[in-house]
Amino acid sequence: MRKTRSTDPNWTDVTPKADFLNRRQIMAGAGAMALGSIAGPALASIDAKPSAYSTDAAPNTLKEITSYNNFYEFGWDKSDPEKNAGQMVTDPWSIEIGGLVDKPGTYPLDDILKPVTLEQRIYRFRCVEAWSMVIPWIGFELSALLDRVGVQPSAKYVAFQTLYRPDQMPGQRQGGIDWPYVEGLRLDEAMNPLTILATGLYDEEMPNQNGAPIRLVVPWKYGFKSIKSIVKISLAEKEPPTTWKQLQPREYGFYANVNPEVDHPRWSQATERRVGAGLFAGREPTLMFNGYGDEVASLYRGMDLAKNY
Ligand code: MTE
Repeated sequence: MRKTRSTDPNWTDVTPKADFLNRRQIMAGAGAMALGSIAGPALASIDAKPSAYSTDAAPNTLKEITSYNNFYEFGWDKSDPEKNAGQMVTDPWSIEIGGLVDKPGTYPLDDILKPVTLEQRIYRFRCVEAWSMVIPWIGFELSALLDRVGVQPSAKYVAFQTLYRPDQMPGQRQGGIDWPYVEGLRLDEAMNPLTILATGLYDEEMPNQNGAPIRLVVPWKYGFKSIKSIVKISLAEKEPPTTWKQLQPREYGFYANVNPEVDHPRWSQATERRVGAGLFAGREPTLMFNGYGDEVASLYRGMDLAKNY
């Protein structure tokens, strides 16, 4: 199941439309034209080939990807987000970018997306609960956005925050988690080309239950690092607080790298069940860094990954 960087994976299987256009980009482009601006790169379409970073494993179906979710703002059950996330209003949307950056501000999503070229990346997604899926994301590298806002030399970490809107998110009206959901990456992890901000999957705009309109995807880490429905990004000198580490520091660390050798205190992390694989498919061995070791192992050279879990 290791990705092989094949140049012709199941592209036709996963992309019925060769030139996927993000609807927001189309609207931003149309708006720009209506205002009479000079033709620019507004209508960025994705490359017709999947990224070299894609796995060649067969993707899960759209139904599997959108009906088995962790999005605790909408309930604790895997089926709750599909039922409840429709209430979340995602347009208009903006992200506040601040902290140690040259150009802090509140950026409308259209402005964030206008200059980026969206790409399809087929990434394995491995949950800490020992199940996995393969998801064809549409997105762009987080580094492209960070470069645009200008990261200052003293910044060492990136903090992310999810929308806090209890009237649309029933889970936020209950206790259990100290809302809003927050996550963080070390700056070099955030700048790694595998780390993307995703705005869609298959050829759909991001479904609400998967973190519309924009969420993080960090494929070598357990799924909880991939924070959904982001409204705030902040560059900092110190390691930022993260929701699961705050809640259960013995069970969930800041790094959360997929690691078959470090067990969760209550279960093994050595194998995984592929969602949708069928009753008799058996479990698969989990790969170090979820199979992305060539790209990211060097980030952790010299670190004890049993301590820094
Ligand atoms: N982001 C927010 N805001 N709230 C959440 O509950 N759950 C995390 C992560 N991002 C979560 C979140 C967990 S535990 C997982 S496994 C993934 O989202 C699930 O992403 P998916 O539903 O797109 O598969």
